[in-house]
Amino acid sequence: MNEDIKTNYHQPVMVDEVLQLLKPERGGVFVDCTLGGGRHARALLEQFKAKNSKCKIKVFGIDRDAEAIEHAKERLNKYDNVILAKDNFVNVNQILEDHKIGKVGGILVDLGVSSHQLDDAGRGFSFGRWDSSASPQNDNNNCQNDIPLDMRMDREQDISAYDVINYYSERELERIIREYGEERRFRQIAREIVIARKKKKIETTGELVDIIAGIMPGKLKHGRKHFATNVFRAIRIEVNDELDAISTALPIMINKLARGGVLIVISFHSLEDRIVKNMFKSFALEYPARYQILTKKPLVPSDAEVESNRRARSAKLRAITRMDGEL
Ligand SMILES: C[S@@+](CC[C@H](N)C(=O)[O-])C[C@H]1O[C@@H](n2cnc3c(N)ncnc32)[C@H](O)[C@@H]1O
Repeated sequence: MNEDIKTNYHQPVMVDEVLQLLKPERGGVFVDCTLGGGRHARALLEQFKAKNSKCKIKVFGIDRDAEAIEHAKERLNKYDNVILAKDNFVNVNQILEDHKIGKVGGILVDLGVSSHQLDDAGRGFSFGRWDSSASPQNDNNNCQNDIPLDMRMDREQDISAYDVINYYSERELERIIREYGEERRFRQIAREIVIARKKKKIETTGELVDIIAGIMPGKLKHGRKHFATNVFRAIRIEVNDELDAISTALPIMINKLARGGVLIVISFHSLEDRIVKNMFKSFALEYPARYQILTKKPLVPSDAEVESNRRARSAKLRAITRMDGEL
């Protein structure tokens, strides 16, 4: 694999902040629950090496996307203390137990999709481009970049965006577009999807974009944010059951922390961040002698980072540590 592909897989966000909080030079077991292209994991291993630590380190990398695991394997194959697992991070406890690991020194969760997943034409995460110069009556599809509706992080999973769009009831579509997309035209969009699929199944991202384009007022179609962003986010969250995964996994992860262990979660929209904030708060309130929140307010990327990586702009980092228990 050439170096460009490996480097461009995903530019990790807030790497310095992650290293300062996790302090891999302490040694011990660290778990990157959202391995992606493996650059956060590599940064942990490099910082450990650079600080010439006398202790040992082991890094677990988990991702539900087999392609991510393959990419990361290439990036991390020169380190011998790395274990990779293609799995959902809700199974982190089992993965660690299989390797006879009890508590761990650090856990990182960098939520959402990787740039590679977004940019890979075959994955169906990104909207096709809508050509505003073409008329809706035109036989030529407005969308110039037609990709099968998929959006599965784990391609072995049964349900894809095609199933959600073509088989969910109108009420279910309304709910996910309203709750996960926070899209105020949720009713109209769900209605138009149902009307369109009666004529023919909706098969591509482009077809979905064209349906949404038919509803959105002109000024929104030329805004900085793509007018289909909210609907695409809603479908992606539903397909990958993203919010349930976070709610289920966070308590498991918090319970895996050793004394001095740190859990970091980087989220990219308010729905995720709210779950993280509330979960951390409830643990710190219920067990004040055991857990301490390290980020009273979430950390956000510097202006310089946002300048060089636009995808970092909505990142929010929260961290919690365990103060008692086994080392
Ligand atoms: C933003 S990327 C992580 C990028 C990574 N930090 C890096 O340095 O390249 C998020 C990754 O998390 C994975 N992911 C999301 N939800 C997951 C889950 N519930 N279990 C396992 N992996 C998940 C996605 O497949 C994606 O590869």
